[in-house]
Amino acid sequence: MRGIILSGGSATRLRPCTKITSKQLLPIYNRPMIYYPLNTLIKAGIKEILIIVAPERAGDYLNLLGSGKEFGVKFTYEIQDKPRGLAEAFIIGENFIDQENVTMILGDNIFEDDLKDEIMSFEKGGRIFAKEVPDPERFGVVDFDANGKAISIEEKPKQPKSNYCVTGLYIYDHRVVEVAKNIKPSDRGEIEITDVNNWFLQEGELDVKKIKGEWIDAGTFDSLLKAQNFAKDKMQEKMVI
Ligand code: TTP
Repeated sequence: MRGIILSGGSATRLRPCTKITSKQLLPIYNRPMIYYPLNTLIKAGIKEILIIVAPERAGDYLNLLGSGKEFGVKFTYEIQDKPRGLAEAFIIGENFIDQENVTMILGDNIFEDDLKDEIMSFEKGGRIFAKEVPDPERFGVVDFDANGKAISIEEKPKQPKSNYCVTGLYIYDHRVVEVAKNIKPSDRGEIEITDVNNWFLQEGELDVKKIKGEWIDAGTFDSLLKAQNFAKDKMQEKMVI
């Protein structure tokens, strides 16, 4: 299993704090934000991790994280020159993924749950994680049938069919590279991860798991504040880095 942390983007919602630095390097209580998704991958036993960053921030990431030796893993770095969407990670990561399975996590997502078993038991297809939220229209939304099987995934729907949103950790087999290459950019100009998920769903190969613990997407000032307090109160004992 290979790991990717997607840590580019423009972070416009956190301006001016992100005018001179990357969102994922801002502190969440006592650690840089990216330590939390990195912790999730390291705890799952993933040893080879690709970190995708924006060109103007690459030096900062290298200075902070280095080769990975300190964490007992190996880091590879790639540049995403423009934020063209989450699924571009698999195109940028083509050589890195090669014929392996891959877990991609967003650099601004904090998961309370230990997802080691879900990551390491993965064999084939796609596996994503859904969480019940009060504001599903901001995310990809999963609808389930009466047996709990996922039947649709819609990107930022105006009228969400459920309150379950897709969180920022995605596991696929190596076919994801070709799937991502064949996706046409959406109206907002992004290669959407929802299109990747719908491809695996249509093939009957998408496993959607509901997560129990807290999940925070730290992309707004309010969620950043929530993440700070959550990290202080609940995440300290879960950190291995
Ligand atoms: P977003 O929060 O959707 O985007 P953003 O970080 O650019 O912020 P804003 O909407 O405030 O401008 O991105 C989610 C995560 O994915 C975040 O960690 C940044 C990362 N990302 C990339 O690295 N490349 C991309 O092309 C996109 C869209 C996001």
